[in-house]
Amino acid sequence: MEVKFSSTSGYIAPPDLQMAVNAAVTLQRPLLVKGEPGTGKTELARQVAASLGMGLIEWGIKSTTKAQQGLYEYDAVARLRDSHLPMGLGGERVGDVSNYIRRGKLWQAFTAPVRVVLLIDEIDKADIEFPNDLLAELDRMEFHVYETGETIRALHRPVVIITSNNEKDLPDAFLRRCFFHYIRFPDEATLAAIVRVHFPDVKEALLTAALAQFFALREMPGIKKKPSTSEVLDWLKLLLAADMTPETLRGHGKNALPALHGALLKTEADIALFEKLAFLSRSEGRS
Ligand SMILES: Nc1ncnc2c1ncn2[C@@H]1O[C@H](COP(=O)(O)OP(=O)(O)O)[C@@H](O)[C@H]1O
Ligand SMILES: [Mg+2]
Repeated sequence: MEVKFSSTSGYIAPPDLQMAVNAAVTLQRPLLVKGEPGTGKTELARQVAASLGMGLIEWGIKSTTKAQQGLYEYDAVARLRDSHLPMGLGGERVGDVSNYIRRGKLWQAFTAPVRVVLLIDEIDKADIEFPNDLLAELDRMEFHVYETGETIRALHRPVVIITSNNEKDLPDAFLRRCFFHYIRFPDEATLAAIVRVHFPDVKEALLTAALAQFFALREMPGIKKKPSTSEVLDWLKLLLAADMTPETLRGHGKNALPALHGALLKTEADIALFEKLAFLSRSEGRS
């Protein structure tokens, strides 16, 4: 694969992230991307697909998702229902079991006519067995369909990107097979670049003032739910819509809750914490 992944007009990829993507592609191993929610993991897969000129197959994992669903599901109920139908009105379908096999995302990725990116998003949502249950299939890039006796083999090994918000630890055997990258929270310059990608017209003065307030808030000792990139973007959108000037934004003062803080602080405990710290620093200032 000659094409290399790099930043795009819609996504800022720091050098370590670019290297991780290209290493995983070269090794033909799944890329496991961890990081706080909102740090661009899902978007990364979309951008990798776009920048390598590949299609994307997204498999969003929920707490109830089973590994088998990624391969295929056999709809026995539909088959039973059809078995009561007369010939010519659906009854003829019953004889062919493949009519009742629903192809999962791995199947789709394996049999796509060209190489695709397969995103397995938020793998840590599923139960603990889930990653292990997919090991063999992702390793060998093939699986067996017992109902029809066929083997589904990858025509082109998909580029597999797996994301995790770190809600659960992943099994060692699974980790061993992945190339791992942790998306660190962006520094101020990188975050500014990310904001500019989304809001190219933002005034530098407003951006600087907003990011200063944002980072102060993120670094508040004891904060429960740190706001991340997606929150900054929501907040900036509101600030821009409100035509906020840097002066008005700062006018709230260092010890006051930032304007439209509902986009940044998502628990009443964190708001209370902010107010307590502000109160303490005001009374220190007075003494
Ligand atoms: N490096 C980045 N460059 C551009 N936009 C980013 C970047 N990181 C995050 N974003 C934006 O932040 C938002 C959240 O990203 P998302 O991929 O949904 O996060 P995650 O999947 O890690 O929770 C999206 O709107 C995304 O476009
Ligand atoms: Mg995501």
